[in-house]
Amino acid sequence: MYDRTSGSIGAVTDTTLSPKPVSPKPTPLHAGPPREGSDVAWWRTAVIYQVYPRSWADSDGDGVGDLPGIIDRLPYLRELGVDALWLSPFYVSPMNDAGYDVADYEDIDPLFGTLEDADRLIATAHDLGLRVIIDLVPNHSSSEHPWFQAALAAAPGSPERERYIFRDGLGPDGSEPPSDWLSVFGGPGWSRVTEADGTPGQWYLHLFDVTQPDFNWHNPEVVAAFHGHLRFWLDRGVDGFRVDVAHSLFKDMTFPSWPYGGEMLVPEHIHSSTGPMWDLDEVHEVYRGWREILDEYATPGDPSTDRILCAEAWVSPPSRLARYVRPDEMHQAFNFDFLEAGWDAERLGPVIADSYARNDEVGAPTTWVLSNHDVVRHASRFGLPDPTHRPNGIGPDDIQPDAELGLRRARAATTLMLGLPGSAYVYQGEELGLPEHTRLPGEVRQDPTYHRTHHAKLGRDGCRIPMPWTADGPSFGFGPSGDTWLPQPEVYGELAVDRQDGTPGSTLELYRALLRLRRERDLAAGSIVEVETPEGVLAYVVTSRSGVRTGLVLNESAESVPVPFDGRLLVHSAPEIDPATAPADVVAADSAAWFALD
Ligand code: GLC
Ligand code: MG
Repeated sequence: MYDRTSGSIGAVTDTTLSPKPVSPKPTPLHAGPPREGSDVAWWRTAVIYQVYPRSWADSDGDGVGDLPGIIDRLPYLRELGVDALWLSPFYVSPMNDAGYDVADYEDIDPLFGTLEDADRLIATAHDLGLRVIIDLVPNHSSSEHPWFQAALAAAPGSPERERYIFRDGLGPDGSEPPSDWLSVFGGPGWSRVTEADGTPGQWYLHLFDVTQPDFNWHNPEVVAAFHGHLRFWLDRGVDGFRVDVAHSLFKDMTFPSWPYGGEMLVPEHIHSSTGPMWDLDEVHEVYRGWREILDEYATPGDPSTDRILCAEAWVSPPSRLARYVRPDEMHQAFNFDFLEAGWDAERLGPVIADSYARNDEVGAPTTWVLSNHDVVRHASRFGLPDPTHRPNGIGPDDIQPDAELGLRRARAATTLMLGLPGSAYVYQGEELGLPEHTRLPGEVRQDPTYHRTHHAKLGRDGCRIPMPWTADGPSFGFGPSGDTWLPQPEVYGELAVDRQDGTPGSTLELYRALLRLRRERDLAAGSIVEVETPEGVLAYVVTSRSGVRTGLVLNESAESVPVPFDGRLLVHSAPEIDPATAPADVVAADSAAWFALD
């Protein structure tokens, strides 16, 4: 209990205050560990840190991050207090989509290192108590994949072409694409090939870049190949896979008209899950097969040996998303509804409640995420005039986010997120409060979206800027040279790790405190009830497996608000507030706080 008289925190009960009646809403949102009693599998509670290998740490000075760089920095993750890291793709790739265009699923691109580096990374992480999740990209390969090269060399109708989706064009000379489907990155979703004899030939489907041909998942050879890839990496010791565009894979092969593609990253127009290329029922059979393989690698009765699958599926409504995490399918799915609720308590509250309800129905953990390598960083999104808006990149000609307000809100949103039972994802650099790079000149932009939309959409480069580790140094400590594959904004220097390390009130220290308290108070495996609050405010009580109660308050209003329960302030997201001396009865505007209730 916070002692107002002495201004200090002690175990003494403050008798000058009468306890405030907490008004919990009648039904708990989530009733704690669903299946294993009190023994909760690691992936139900894990905080998973996304490393974007190109931009985390560069060991050789070529301006691109690499595996040796990551290995050197792993102790930082241990100290931060996360449980696992997820690595965006490190495979052999021509890098037309930053590695999401894979030419060899069983080797490392020389830009990033070698297979031996990958082995060393996995071993070092495990020694530090960190689990390793890697990215798997099953919807498409790179056009440089040997299978696609073989398909181009082979004739229409050949088994080589059957591994991808080749069709004859429409019109008398086949010069019209087989359907009006569009690429998510802009432009048509079909491209025409030149046959071996030099004549204009068939078309192939690519829901993303022209260099990312879609596999034909009706072909058992494709199914078998991915079983092989899973085993290859499981044998090397990885703890799981983040499954890229997990809701695609199967398409309606009658190719009905659907001229609305290209919107996956701008869902306000039309939700990505709608349409004949997304979320078809057949996809679940694939993941049941994958789950069987993963389960072979786990020791029955010992959840610490579980290997996991996490779906990147931009699917709506939540009941459809829950189908991916049924007991015999994936373990987790990203909760993009949470990310997309933006800074809007009236949207966020119901999303949180619904997330628990839908996942509990299938016995899956709820996950939380606010940023990743595909979206404008939340420290910038929440500083936009409309903080629920998620633009596809921000450029120098756009309205610039309010950096201070955005960061303040980002810290608050994360404070709520890391208190919620379930598993959470943190994107590299958000623990430093990094903003989006919003002034990148067009000529340095690399996202295929920018080029395929003829610059109408700016794309995702702004959230992929190399990490600042030190305030000084030519690339803020990213690498030994001044080279960085994307330029870093000046402000990254002030936000560098060495500036924030040990600095009271810094975002890095806030994340460390949240992660430590989350563990100490066993929040992630707890049960949760919602508490009545005024508009713009959300409040919850989380009860741990041993009965320790923690109050969480998120105040998205512009005024400070009274705390709806009596408790001792544990952590407050506002940088000006020191939890050791601050009063425990209000939460400042645009802030969040945790309270010990016992
Ligand atoms: C996923 C990835 C994204 C990539 C796309 C195509 O959405 O997160 O970065 O461009 O899939 O693979
Ligand atoms: Mg390098």
